[in-house]
Amino acid sequence: MKVKENLFPPYLFAIYLGVLLLMSGIHTGLIVFMDTVRWNGIVQTIIPMVYWGIVAVGLTLFTRQKMKNTYEEPLHKMAEATKKVSEGDFSVYVPAIHAADKLDYLDVMIRDFNKMVEELGSIETLKTDFVSNVSHEMKTPIAIIKNYAQLLQTGQVSGEQRKEYAKGIEDAAERLSSLISNILKLNKLEHERIIPEAETYDVCRQLCESVFLFEDAMEEKGIELEAAMEDSAIIKADASLMELVWNNLLSNAVKFTERGGSIVIRQISDGNHVIVSVSDTGCGIGKEKIKHIFDKFYQGDTSHASEGNGLGLALVKRVLELVDGEIQITSEEGKGSTFTVTLPEAAC
Ligand SMILES: Nc1ncnc2c1ncn2[C@@H]1O[C@H](COP(=O)(O)OP(=O)(O)OP(=O)(O)O)[C@@H](O)[C@H]1O
Ligand SMILES: [Mg+2]
Repeated sequence: MKVKENLFPPYLFAIYLGVLLLMSGIHTGLIVFMDTVRWNGIVQTIIPMVYWGIVAVGLTLFTRQKMKNTYEEPLHKMAEATKKVSEGDFSVYVPAIHAADKLDYLDVMIRDFNKMVEELGSIETLKTDFVSNVSHEMKTPIAIIKNYAQLLQTGQVSGEQRKEYAKGIEDAAERLSSLISNILKLNKLEHERIIPEAETYDVCRQLCESVFLFEDAMEEKGIELEAAMEDSAIIKADASLMELVWNNLLSNAVKFTERGGSIVIRQISDGNHVIVSVSDTGCGIGKEKIKHIFDKFYQGDTSHASEGNGLGLALVKRVLELVDGEIQITSEEGKGSTFTVTLPEAAC
C-alpha cells in the first residue's frame, strides 16, 4: 500500500509561489492600466490596497483551512480518543481521514492506534473473563464443602452419611486444589519463553508410566486399552512438562469414554518426528466445539463439568508451543476422538 509521506508536498509551495507571482503581475498590470486611463490618485491608491487585501485574506484563510483539515481536526479526534482510552473505554474508534487509496502517515497512525486499542480491549476482556471464570470455578466446591460441613454439624448423621459427607468434602477440596495448581502451572508456562530443563529421554517409557497412572480408572469403567508403540523413541524436551500432556490427554480419554469403551495409544517415528496419538471411543466433539477446546475454562461436555475446570487442553497447547510440538484432533460426535501429538525427534 502506498502511503503519502508528506502532508505539505513541495508542489504546494510551488503553487503558492506561482499564485504570488501571478498576483504581483496583475498588480503591475493594474497600475499600468490605471495610469493609462488616468484615474484619479485616490482610486489608484484604493484599488491596489483592496486587491492586496483580498489576496492576503484569501491566502491566510486557505492556509488556515488546510492546516485545520490536515492536522488540527485529526489530532483533536486522536486527543479525545486517547483520553477515553486512558479512562478505560476501549470501544473508541477513530475513522481514517482519507479513503483507503489516498492514505497518508496520519491515517496510518490512526489505523495503528485503533489496532492498539482493540488489542488492549481484548486483553482487558480476557483478564476480566479469567477472574470471573476462576471465581465461578471456586464457588461450586466451596459451596459443597460448606453444605457438607453444615450437615456434619447437625448431629443426626449416621456413620454411613458421615463417610459420604466427608468424601464429598475431600472431592471438593481435591477439585479446588487441582484448579489452583492448574492455574499456577498455566500462569508459569505462559510467562516462560524457553524450555527450562530440556533433556533427552525415551518418550515410550514415559507414555507407559502415564498409562499406568490411569489403569485403575480404566479398569473401574471397564475401558479396554490397546497400545502400539516402538521399543523406544528419543525426544529432547522437558520431561515434567510432557508428562502434563500425556496425563491430560489420557485423563480426557478416560473421562469422556463411556463404560465398556476403548482407548488406543499409538506411537511411531518417521526419522524426524515422534508421533503419538490417543484415540477413544467416547462422546466425541462437534465441529463448533473443537474450535474452543484449547480455550481456558472451556468445557464442551457439560455432563462432565464437575470433573474438571477446562484447563487441561489449554495447558497441553502451551506446553507443546514451548517444546516445538503440534497437536491435531479428529473427532466425530458420538463416535470418538483422536488427539495426535507430533514432536521433533532428538538427533542421535
Ligand atoms: N477425549 C475427548 N473426548 C470428548 N471430548 C473431549 C475430549 N477431550 C477434551 N474434550 C472436550 O474438550 C473440553 C476441554 O478439555 P480440557 O481437558 O481442557 O478440560 P476438562 O477435561 O473438562 O477439565 P480439566 O482438564 O481441567 O480437568 C472438555 O470439557 C470436553 O468437552
Ligand atoms: Mg481435561
